[in-house]
Amino acid sequence: MNVRFCPSVPANTRPASDLSDRHYPAVAEGIVQYRPPNLWRDLDRGYLAPHLMPVQEFREAMSAALAGAGWQALAYGNNSGPVPLKEQLVANGMVGADIDNICITGGISQALVLLAGVLATQGDCVAIEEPSYDLGAALLRDAGLHPLCLASDDQGPVEGALAECARQAAARGSRLAFAVVMPRHQNPTGRCLTTHRLRELVEASGSLGLPLIIDDAYGEIDFRTMGSVPLPLPDVVSDAPHLVVLGSFSKTLGGGIRLGYLVAARPLIARIERFGWTASGGGFNPINALAAAEFLRDGYRQHVRDLTHALVMNRDVALAELAKLDDPGLTVNSPSGGYFLWVRPATVGDSVALQSAFDTARVSVADGARFGSSGSGMFRLSFSSATAEQIGQALSDVVSVLRKESDD
Ligand SMILES: Cc1ncc(COP(=O)(O)O)c(C=O)c1O
Repeated sequence: MNVRFCPSVPANTRPASDLSDRHYPAVAEGIVQYRPPNLWRDLDRGYLAPHLMPVQEFREAMSAALAGAGWQALAYGNNSGPVPLKEQLVANGMVGADIDNICITGGISQALVLLAGVLATQGDCVAIEEPSYDLGAALLRDAGLHPLCLASDDQGPVEGALAECARQAAARGSRLAFAVVMPRHQNPTGRCLTTHRLRELVEASGSLGLPLIIDDAYGEIDFRTMGSVPLPLPDVVSDAPHLVVLGSFSKTLGGGIRLGYLVAARPLIARIERFGWTASGGGFNPINALAAAEFLRDGYRQHVRDLTHALVMNRDVALAELAKLDDPGLTVNSPSGGYFLWVRPATVGDSVALQSAFDTARVSVADGARFGSSGSGMFRLSFSSATAEQIGQALSDVVSVLRKESDD
């Protein structure tokens, strides 16, 4: 059947299934950031589903951290973060650098705000991708910086894009302070930059004397190795003094851990250690960092393997349901990692109808326009925040709404 999307969907086609209570079990008031409204299924947010979070393992790791470090776990922490976690990051192959090049952070969001303070002054411009992680752009704006979009095609920033941003910044009477890119499993498109494109960015930033920040939030969620070993970033990223790589535990353990790591040349690490925020409060999230070190010592790799298997299953279920639309005009990526499908209906009219079908089936997805003008008319579907069964049911409801529509 060749489904054409039509804008109006009758209210009486609403499916009755309620998966949201099983979707987010036992939610107390005022603890988590978001829970979908009753009867809605959330394929919008890049959250880890409750059943994919290693609650019991992390509890044991925290207990071991407190037993091992005693009072030190509650003291102001080492400014660049606890050495046991840095050692484990290196031992696990997650960071291919010396421990002196690592600073433990409160996650990538916190690291970006920190870098905005260390590397930029208010009013500076920063270069970001188009489309790009919307909340990352928002936090740079909140830090007083002005994001400029790197000219891009389907494969990512095009040659010369960084130099063009530097020119635009100068034309505004400002300067370009740094650039942020996501070379692996980009949010929202899921794409990986080719080595050629990444090399071009690394070389261009080097010749402009510009720090290039690699946001590697989804680097651990890689379906090519099924989580069995961490895949290193391409060689072009190693040893360049102007590169800063940001990793996070949010996508493997859950966002509440607020923990990540920054890998950079020693002078930048030293500046971060001396920065007011760090000098005053010490290293970020030391108690969680010590617990993560315990988890990395024992159990983390198996957890990432299990998680990756579950996410691949979720991705495949979502792709299979979307294929049932049998619409040659609809294009969907098949990401090799990360959390998201990036869906392009054939026409803008179709995207209005598809949004209407999502609404009728009570499935929330992210409107692509949120991520930049090139995302307009597209959708980002998260396959991380539910079970395969729930994702299958949610999308099957969307397909039923559209079938009914085309039959009427
Ligand atoms: C590309 C990207 N960067 C950063 C973050 C936030 O990372 P963290 O939870 O470590 O602050 C996210 C979360 O959605 C993301 O998608």
